[in-house]
Amino acid sequence: MNLNPYFRIAGITILSLLLSAQTFSQIAGNTKLTPVNQARIDALIKSMTFEEKIGQLSLFTSDWDVTGSALKSNFKNLIREGLVGSVFKAYTVDSVRDLQHIAVEESRLKIPMLFGYDVIHGYRTIFPVPLAQSCSWDMTAIEQADRIAAIEATAEGINWTFAPMVDIARDPRWGRVDEGSGEDTWLGCRIATARVKGFQGDDLAADNTLMACVKHFAAYGAVQSGRDYNTVDMSQLSLCEWYLPPYKACVDAGVGSVMTSFNEIAGVPSTGNKWLLTDLLRRDWHFNGFVVTDYTAINEMVNHGIAANIKDAAQLALNAGVDMDMQGSTYIDSADSLLKENKITMARVDEAVRVILEAKMKLGLFDDPYRYCKKDRQEKEIMTREALAAARKMVAESCVLLKNSNQTLPIPATVKTIAVIGPLGDSKMDMLGNWSAAGNWEKCVTLVEGLRNRAGSNAEILYEKGCNVNDDDRTGFEAARKLAAKADFVILALGENGWMSGEASSRAHIDLPGVQGDLAESIAATGKPVTVVLFNGRPLAINRLHLMASAILETWFGGTQAGNGIADLLFGDVTPSGKLTMTFPRTEGQIPIFYNAKNTGRPYNRSDPDAKYVSRYLDCPNDPLYPFGFGLSYTTFAYSDLHAVVSGNRIDITVKVTNTGSRDGEEIAQLYIQDKVGSITRPVKELKGFQKVLIGKGESRVLSFSVTADELAFYHPDLKKYWEPGEFVVYAGGNSAETISQSVWLK
Ligand code: NOJ
Repeated sequence: MNLNPYFRIAGITILSLLLSAQTFSQIAGNTKLTPVNQARIDALIKSMTFEEKIGQLSLFTSDWDVTGSALKSNFKNLIREGLVGSVFKAYTVDSVRDLQHIAVEESRLKIPMLFGYDVIHGYRTIFPVPLAQSCSWDMTAIEQADRIAAIEATAEGINWTFAPMVDIARDPRWGRVDEGSGEDTWLGCRIATARVKGFQGDDLAADNTLMACVKHFAAYGAVQSGRDYNTVDMSQLSLCEWYLPPYKACVDAGVGSVMTSFNEIAGVPSTGNKWLLTDLLRRDWHFNGFVVTDYTAINEMVNHGIAANIKDAAQLALNAGVDMDMQGSTYIDSADSLLKENKITMARVDEAVRVILEAKMKLGLFDDPYRYCKKDRQEKEIMTREALAAARKMVAESCVLLKNSNQTLPIPATVKTIAVIGPLGDSKMDMLGNWSAAGNWEKCVTLVEGLRNRAGSNAEILYEKGCNVNDDDRTGFEAARKLAAKADFVILALGENGWMSGEASSRAHIDLPGVQGDLAESIAATGKPVTVVLFNGRPLAINRLHLMASAILETWFGGTQAGNGIADLLFGDVTPSGKLTMTFPRTEGQIPIFYNAKNTGRPYNRSDPDAKYVSRYLDCPNDPLYPFGFGLSYTTFAYSDLHAVVSGNRIDITVKVTNTGSRDGEEIAQLYIQDKVGSITRPVKELKGFQKVLIGKGESRVLSFSVTADELAFYHPDLKKYWEPGEFVVYAGGNSAETISQSVWLK
């Protein structure tokens, strides 16, 4: 195989350094089977025909929901013949039972099938999109959201989810930023771990846990120009330092499967990248689950120009370490002749079959193939009161208050008429966001409904759409203006349609689509203070809106309970606490923009704003509209008394956080560290800790953090990771831009 030598070198070097650092996971998907179960699998593999083996390596969408390829009308026959090992997008107990029945009662070897699905932010109870959830910085709540998703999905036959997506992303033009947890690697690792735990629990064989699949391996979030499926090219240092750790965190947390990404990295598509899939993932990280491609990613290697035809692509993928082909049918079509031509080996095929059978074993499917097909669970465990309450709480936790001049929010109790204006005020469908699994849009609570539920007879909620999300029709402006004029309080519900982020949803312009900006301007011109409630799946460039609005609440796509959770915040029943996990640029021209950037040799200096030969734009400030970690509250917090003390190889830090406002509130206190001088330049700041704490009005809390020298280690040109002694600046604050600081020296 024609591997880029760059990765060969990287692979070998990483091997030695990561071997020592490896912690062997004892959790769920990545554990070894007992000798008895290994023997069962050995015996099974021995009895399989070559065709049956290849069947295990093949995953297809169910024939009533095919979005692209091969198996359609004769789908059930193929299962019967043992040629389909797993299915995705088939759900509900009856449907899954029906297909599983064919596999385990009518096929020769009776091997149960995996049933996969994109359970990305909830299954029936839809939670806020993952980017939104990350803004809660609440690991317990994030884990619980996926626990609930797992309970619901497994109650309807699903035993495998294509989540979590842990792609670090610094470009909001990329539509898939809403599936991940933002731009920060340190935080991304913690969220990745919480999500694997949520899906897989402690026991993969329990009937309410499902196998997770970390994706998209690797570095899919770094597609050039933010255009989906585009090329990724970066230094080995950046790859190791910023992009790979969240996948590794999932492997360490015991994730059962890994999905390859569509992109190439340094000339080699992930799906044919032996360094990535075998040297790094299996050998260095000790991953012992299975690797599945993304949808037809093997076939796409022909377009990439690394394989002349599908057969070559199949050879490249299998030999690189891809165990299962999603939807491409390439192994089915080519494996036989590849074997005859000695281009693949039976040993490699057996290895791939083994890890897939092991996954089925770990899920308990060999003991009870209908383990996830229990009618009573389907009836009782879907959209329970507890699930809806958790979703509502998550909505409130994940919204971020971006502006609140003159304490516009919360809505004063004296308000009797509220005008909701804008295309997203009453759109149930959009609340789901993308990847809404089996979520039913009709069950979503919109902003208007949430406000009405909360206000009851105390206030009247009136609604005008004003315009559509994404066209140039202004005919609704006049009615909207009239409504604004007669209301005590005006809310604009603006943003993107749910489908405008997610896969294949890159945008070159990330301000408000259509004429929504003009609608906002025309309402603001009435002189009434305007509160904007934003719905979107990515950071938007909303400088114009920022200038005209009195208050802005970022609500993302909140899912089933969106409107209720938002109303909790708007009426002040809950005080906002969410903080951004992705920087909001002022304009697209600043992209990529992220907080942990480098200083450069000619940094911009605020005290000399007109200096010419520095790293700056002539027509736009360098700093973002809203920085990473930013989010307001209905109260205010002050940081003081930062004390950082070195004790051996550890920095012990305390900082006092005082609630200086007139309400109790939760604050996400953030700790950043800068390594002042290194043999490799270091970012201006890196997140190294946070605490989410409730502080009563007028009260103070002294928060303690400890950071070890090992946590300050970074990759060097030889790809060894270690820390360097010297000066470290410790920063504490309520966001990445407004901090207090102190220097310490580590020897
Ligand atoms: C393509 C997407 O990239 C991936 O995230 C998803 O899991 C698969 N399709 C299956 O739906």
